[in-house]
Amino acid sequence: MPFPIHRLRRLRRTEALRRLVRETRLDPAQFILPLFVCPGEGVRREIGAMPGNYQMSIDQLVEECAEVQSLGIGGVILFGLPESKDDMATGAYDENGIVQRAIRAIRKETPKLLVVTDVCNCEYTSHGHCGYVKDGDVDNDTTLQWLAKSALSHARAGADMVAPSDMMDGRVWAIRQALDANGFDKIPILAYAAKFASVFYGPFREAAESAPQFGDRRSYQMDPANGREAMREIELDIEEGADMIMVKPAMPYLDLISQARQRFDVPIAAYQVSGEYSMIVAAARNGWIDHDRAMMESLTSIARAGAGVILTYFAKPAARLL
Ligand code: PBG
Repeated sequence: MPFPIHRLRRLRRTEALRRLVRETRLDPAQFILPLFVCPGEGVRREIGAMPGNYQMSIDQLVEECAEVQSLGIGGVILFGLPESKDDMATGAYDENGIVQRAIRAIRKETPKLLVVTDVCNCEYTSHGHCGYVKDGDVDNDTTLQWLAKSALSHARAGADMVAPSDMMDGRVWAIRQALDANGFDKIPILAYAAKFASVFYGPFREAAESAPQFGDRRSYQMDPANGREAMREIELDIEEGADMIMVKPAMPYLDLISQARQRFDVPIAAYQVSGEYSMIVAAARNGWIDHDRAMMESLTSIARAGAGVILTYFAKPAARLL
């Protein structure tokens, strides 16, 4: 074969050609925007480590949701900052808790917007751990009861889907049982199946005021070194009844998104977490990187790896560009 028969540059020559043969396309419908709801009225407090993201009171949150809907974004996932915290995470499963009230308010104003809830205890415990602390460790099976109650209270308030992020063993099963026993067999579960003990959650803990007061989360979140174990976590969550699974964080774990895509036929989500967002925004603010291109390239890489759904703090600016 004489040399220049194959010239891959031919299909890269113009934007029209590149656009035609593009393998991965992003769509605002695949984005889920994380939102932080706090007590009060008229509150819209920017999160220092996550410029462009806010702690919002319910009235502001409702306005935000209307904008999210008008941009064609797939949905929102809610995180709550309760009035007060205690060692039983009471605010997490209070029928009148901050997230439960927020869901009802969003339902009234934007009934068609997809509302997902993060099911976890760390925002509600005085010590910032994701469950009941006994002898210095998070007690798995007691925590399951809190998670089941929380998920049920979210469903009662009108959530479309619940997403447990605590990494207790058996939580998908416990939540499925509680939902089904109470008439919510139609509510799907998005399991944060492969969630790693990651330094990239740093900015989020400022946003959600949920940093652990002692120790860390390594006895329940996964070791970043373990890819095979991630596949086991995903497999077990699917067996327990997860309708969708998630890999989190996204960019440092693209290999696992790709492996999961090949092994499992459920929809796969990836969470581009706070640190991934803040690094891009910070570099852009310093003039070191182009914000919009870094945003789109990072989101494209996550989709190309195999995530059909992306939880991202870039949902609004990315949707506007698309
Ligand atoms: C709650 C939870 C966390 C995140 C999502 N759900 C924090 C954590 O596990 O410490 C992190 C999200 C982000 O960094 O954007 N457990």
